Amino acid sequence: MDHSLSAENLAVGYDQREIIHDLSVRIPAGKISVIVGANACGKSTLLKTLARLLKPSRGSVLLDGKSIQQIPTREVAMRLGLLPQAPTAPEGITVADLVGRGRYPRQGWIRQWTPADDEAIADAMMSTDVLEIADRPIDELSGGQRQRVWIAMALAQETGILLLDEPTTFLDLTHQIDVLELLVDLNKRDQRTIVLVLHDLNQACRFGDHLIAMKNGTIVAEGNPADVITEPLVQDVFGLAVKVIPDPVAGAPMVVPLGRHTNRADARPHPSTPAAKALAASAAATGICTPTQH
Ligand SMILES: Nc1ncnc2c1ncn2[C@@H]1O[C@H](COP(=O)(O)OP(=O)(O)OP(=O)(O)O)[C@@H](O)[C@H]1O
Ligand SMILES: [Mg+2]
Repeated sequence: MDHSLSAENLAVGYDQREIIHDLSVRIPAGKISVIVGANACGKSTLLKTLARLLKPSRGSVLLDGKSIQQIPTREVAMRLGLLPQAPTAPEGITVADLVGRGRYPRQGWIRQWTPADDEAIADAMMSTDVLEIADRPIDELSGGQRQRVWIAMALAQETGILLLDEPTTFLDLTHQIDVLELLVDLNKRDQRTIVLVLHDLNQACRFGDHLIAMKNGTIVAEGNPADVITEPLVQDVFGLAVKVIPDPVAGAPMVVPLGRHTNRADARPHPSTPAAKALAASAAATGICTPTQH
């Protein structure tokens, strides 16, 4: 499953407009990398270029040391899978059929459908919790159900490199954590190289081994989450004043926006309730100051 992916001096754009400027990156093999950055900074453009869906105007993407433009489409699809930000499904297709499409790159004139294909599909559907809706048409699903089916399709492809553009969009918190933990499991079990785009910086820090922070089509910082997610970096990349504290569960950086409205007395429990006491105890244990009630 060990494949290498990197880019050298990439310039990518649409029509005449350049979006990615002179970007070089080496995706760490066998790790989870998370790309973060403000809307429209070029995250999806970079991911699509890494997956050969967009052709750079300058520079190149190297898959296993070879220019990805020179590797046949099917070969690329055997080694690298992409879940785009807004994928579209053929009309009327069912969940099981869509997930099955993840196996298409492995079919051919000689190789027919095998039990390994059925197993990969069943595994992918089970781990994304979509088995129960296997026979339903995609168009009838909720946003979160549909997102999980797309993730199942990407997993069924069983590629050594998996690129996922905002895979947790539309998901409730339980399913967000399920998907992220599943990716960590896959990464640990098979040493898969995973690249995610996430907007939730706390989840990026908690689940990413390597963070890539982008601004205006370039990388402004990369490295381990604790080194990348600092108060000045968040201010620079997102234009947002924040406090960064260790999260009380994993100790990863946790970003708390300063914002303008911190005196929402009605957002806190009444001081005499058990909830208020639990909150105060938790704050004391983690050394977090709580604002006084007004
Ligand atoms: N198909 C396209 N044609 C023309 N311009 C595009 C196209 N896709 C993206 N762009 C432009 O390229 C820029 C970067 O878009 P991109 O989708 O890479 O941003 P992003 O960082 O993924 O943002 P988001 O967080 O909103 O998903 C934006 O200005 C966008 O309008
Ligand atoms: Mg995007």
